[in-house]
Amino acid sequence: MKFFIDTANLQQIAEAKDLGILDGVTTNPSLMAKEGITGKSEIYKHYKKICDLVEGDVSAEVISTDYEGMIREGKELAMISENIVVKVPMIKDGVKALVEFTKLDIKTNCTLVFSAGQAILAAKAGATYVSPFIGRIDDSGWNGMQLISDIYDIYSLQGYDTEILAASIRSGLHIVDAAKAGADVVTCPLDAIMSLLKHPLTDIGLEKFLADHAKAAK
Ligand code: E4P
Repeated sequence: MKFFIDTANLQQIAEAKDLGILDGVTTNPSLMAKEGITGKSEIYKHYKKICDLVEGDVSAEVISTDYEGMIREGKELAMISENIVVKVPMIKDGVKALVEFTKLDIKTNCTLVFSAGQAILAAKAGATYVSPFIGRIDDSGWNGMQLISDIYDIYSLQGYDTEILAASIRSGLHIVDAAKAGADVVTCPLDAIMSLLKHPLTDIGLEKFLADHAKAAK
């Protein structure tokens, strides 16, 4: 399973990269706004900085919601770097745009996916990645992880190539459950990735090993 970081914060991306396990980055307009990045040229410059920092795929989302606009924007985004994956919302024009980007050999991430039906459409349209939003489904009182399992079953049965990118991850438990459910990729906030490191028995065990080592050395 690939690990992406879900942020536009360069420091956090660098920290995750430093751990040596980072495969890519996802961003969205809210995450860009959170970093105070506004205006097309600043936003594109920021994507370039992210692409220069990491080796893997970097999802950059279109703002347009009409077919022509999405195609124009997607082509511009794809010019920034070969790392760029054009992120397209799961709406009618988005599906049409995914089909066109597939023909143009531009990598895509179909975002805002909340049902198996939407995931089937994304795969039929040739999306490189499909992003079911686990945490937001959980927040609405339903079972986000079940959707990952359902999509995994359907894609396996139908032989779809689209990679399942578990998004809207809130915790380490989500990461583990997404791995069990068959996700190809998880995109997570830095703290969710770092939480995987932690176990009290590791800390207690290490303390004891070091204490025994020091005692023996006396
Ligand atoms: C995915 O690519 C999205 O950027 C992200 O995972 C959304 O997560 P949120 O529900 O925490 O905003």
